[in-house]
Amino acid sequence: MDAPSREFTLAGSLDELKAKGRLILHGGHRPILVVYDRGRVFAFDNRCPHMGFPLERGSIEDGILTCHWHHARFDLESGCTFDLWADDVPIFPVELRDGEVWVKTTFGDADPAAHWRQRLADGLAHDLGLVIAKAVHGQLATDVPAADIVRQVALFGAQNRDGWGVGLTILTALANLLPVLPEEEAYLALFHGARRVAADCDGEPPRRERAPLRSQPDPVTLKRWLRRWTNVRHREAAERTLLTAIAAGLSPAVLADTLVAAATERAFADTGHSLDFINKAVECLDLIGWEHAAAVLPTVVGQMVAARGAEESTAWRQPVDLVALCEQAASELPQLFATGRGVHGWSDVDALKAAIRAGAASTDLSRSLAYAAALRVARFGNANEHSDWETAHHVFTYANAVDQMLKRVGTANSHGAVRGILHGAMALYLTRYLNVPPARIPGEGDEQLDDLPADAETICAALLDAFDRQRQVDVAARLVARHLKLGHSPQALIATLARAVLREDAGFHAYQMLEAGVRQFTEWDNTDEGRHILIAVARYLAAHSPTERAALQTADIARRLMRGGELHQEEGASS
Ligand code: FES
Repeated sequence: MDAPSREFTLAGSLDELKAKGRLILHGGHRPILVVYDRGRVFAFDNRCPHMGFPLERGSIEDGILTCHWHHARFDLESGCTFDLWADDVPIFPVELRDGEVWVKTTFGDADPAAHWRQRLADGLAHDLGLVIAKAVHGQLATDVPAADIVRQVALFGAQNRDGWGVGLTILTALANLLPVLPEEEAYLALFHGARRVAADCDGEPPRRERAPLRSQPDPVTLKRWLRRWTNVRHREAAERTLLTAIAAGLSPAVLADTLVAAATERAFADTGHSLDFINKAVECLDLIGWEHAAAVLPTVVGQMVAARGAEESTAWRQPVDLVALCEQAASELPQLFATGRGVHGWSDVDALKAAIRAGAASTDLSRSLAYAAALRVARFGNANEHSDWETAHHVFTYANAVDQMLKRVGTANSHGAVRGILHGAMALYLTRYLNVPPARIPGEGDEQLDDLPADAETICAALLDAFDRQRQVDVAARLVARHLKLGHSPQALIATLARAVLREDAGFHAYQMLEAGVRQFTEWDNTDEGRHILIAVARYLAAHSPTERAALQTADIARRLMRGGELHQEEGASS
């Protein structure tokens, strides 16, 4: 970006400008167009803010400049666009000195962070991908912390839509990954999160505020009430109860436990999305600050009370009543945990219920459940229908959410979170057909995969190449196995998987899969289990790649416009 400067450069004589109508000046990082119109002189970035087409080839009429590529129109005096999708064009101060035209060739706002913050607000409000991309880039370039950007977008999303949506889930998932992403990927992650929040809010009614009760019921009562209102699908009552709990200053762990207890009143509600969104909402508050709990947490209530539970589905009721089994096991849990406390290292996921009876620690169970659900994806049979990938994915992301929630709220005291384990186990049991026959996991035993490259960079490049083509599920799995078996850095592999997602017009589930996979990999580290988890991620991503990558093009145009250079001429020169 240009640094603020008071330097002016001679563009030419006024007579020359009048004769030619327009002049081109090469500024610090961008070409500047100087035009004469009806006795006045204007200067602005010659690159159309939409896609960089040279504005010198546009036309001027009645004080309006029209770009001749997509016909965006701009006010000559201010540079403001009449077509919001094109963004405003930066203007430059002009001085006339003794018949000469002088132009300040650098520009910059007195408070660039505030400028880009406002532009992000504009982009979000009007769902303008290009403006959002520039504003994210601009804020990062002015050293605005990523958490501040996440906070701005999250609060916009919470206020401008009547309920938590996939956009906020994507934003939170990607923000969780920022610590492991290279700088370039961090820009893309924030852009994708923001654009998906904007898309979620576009055309939606804003959220209506509710107030907490004016009484101060104790936490146990509030928890009981929230379960009651969820059971009878009374959204207003549930929101006021939750707001009262927030106003009472209950800790994040207690608030999370209160929500989980209510959400697990229904089994695997909305194929797991209800609990997953609750987990993401509390993770969002970890990122942006729990002082925003009253703005964020109530957004999950609408879905929570309206969600359809698995108890309403035949598969959970016949031939075995799995819901009844869960309820019976859940009622025994306090006693079981009391007698079994201290048992660690349990990992036989096929004996989940037996393990609870034997007293396995609940966090062992949730971690193992998440691993078992990842194995469903890692061993997902290629003969399944493509849509079945989502069935496997739902159980995995749900299990990850349960695991994260269980760590947050504690163990034996959270009846709701442990009930979530039981629901997850039943969902996992019901999807066993996805592994019939099971796909073979590469790199097992002594298999070295020696037909693949050995160098880490080459493996990662080959992995990205595999994602460029359809149906490369097994190739991707083998490359991930090869990378980890050779002891290469898991971080480099994770960055490659993140790049593979961030360059695509990824679906909601791909972001979830990536983030849940990285989370669970950190639980197991570079063990066989950790390897299986990243193989699962790679297989899922390979099954959903490539896409058109339109959003990446938008992000790339924004980045190039922000960095300077003549986009259109560069492309023309290379063609
Ligand atoms: S309107 Fe100018 S490049 Fe699209």
